[in-house]
Amino acid sequence: MRTVRTITELRGMIHVWRNKGERIAFVPTMGNLHAGHIHLMAQAVHRADRVVASIFVNPMQFGANEDFTTYPRTLSADSIALAENGVHALFLPEVSELYPHGAENTTRVEVVGLSDILCGASRPGHFVGVATVVNKFFNIVQPDIAVFGEKDYQQLLVIRRMVADLCLPITILGVPTVREPDGLAMSSRNGYLTAEQRSGASRLYQVLRATHQHISEGARDYAMLAEQGMQALRDAGFTPDYFTVRRSHDLMLPEPGDSELVVLAAAWSGSTRLIDNIQIDI
Ligand code: PAJ
Repeated sequence: MRTVRTITELRGMIHVWRNKGERIAFVPTMGNLHAGHIHLMAQAVHRADRVVASIFVNPMQFGANEDFTTYPRTLSADSIALAENGVHALFLPEVSELYPHGAENTTRVEVVGLSDILCGASRPGHFVGVATVVNKFFNIVQPDIAVFGEKDYQQLLVIRRMVADLCLPITILGVPTVREPDGLAMSSRNGYLTAEQRSGASRLYQVLRATHQHISEGARDYAMLAEQGMQALRDAGFTPDYFTVRRSHDLMLPEPGDSELVVLAAAWSGSTRLIDNIQIDI
């Protein structure tokens, strides 16, 4: 695996692969890699001749009071894990390489509507930061396929919508969430949890599962299910941000007859914000 820090060097490498007719997959990350990330790499390896991964803690998607400076950075372990899992190139740009005029002064990509609800309502500007950096990566790498986790379900839809709206010739692959044995979705932020918070954290998934169960047994009062979910999260010691049943293709509230749904939740455990979701076809 080669580690490259500049756009020019990465483009040079990819140009050689393209000239040989090789198919390129891209997997963006912010590092501190866990088995969920590595699963994305495996999916990419299956579907392309060359895999490019990036590690970049993107300042543009963090709010002023969020964890940009404290976000875990574990480059040497990450680098070994990527090399061992078949990644050909690791793109590791400095902030100044991607934002020469500063992240606050860059041209922005806004996926209208989808960016302002749910996590976007609690984290203003977050999805503009995500869409902008991912669009830049797509223009730099020009992959055939890019791989994202369903764990960040709203992010996946934002990216799909951006690719459709901007006519980008890239296939977006969504990959199911990889979980800890107790059901907690793997996340770089799980490391912030105290031992006590960690042992209660799987309740988030259990509440989602319970709602999934109610819907599969015929419950259709989604507003009531959402209120019950919020209360169950409070009872489990979380400060819930949202708990809601939405249509899986656009995250709007379900209309009677909609059959492809997703139950989404975001909740604080102390100062750590956890998110998770479960899809359901009725
Ligand atoms: P990061 O949180 O590092 O996640 C990188 C990718 O890994 C995302 O597509 C995310 O959905 C996926 N992922 C995280 N945890 C997962 C799990 N438990 N199972 C499966 N996939 C999982 O998401 C970002 O970084 C950033 O917003 C990024 C897209 C890189 C843009 O900066």
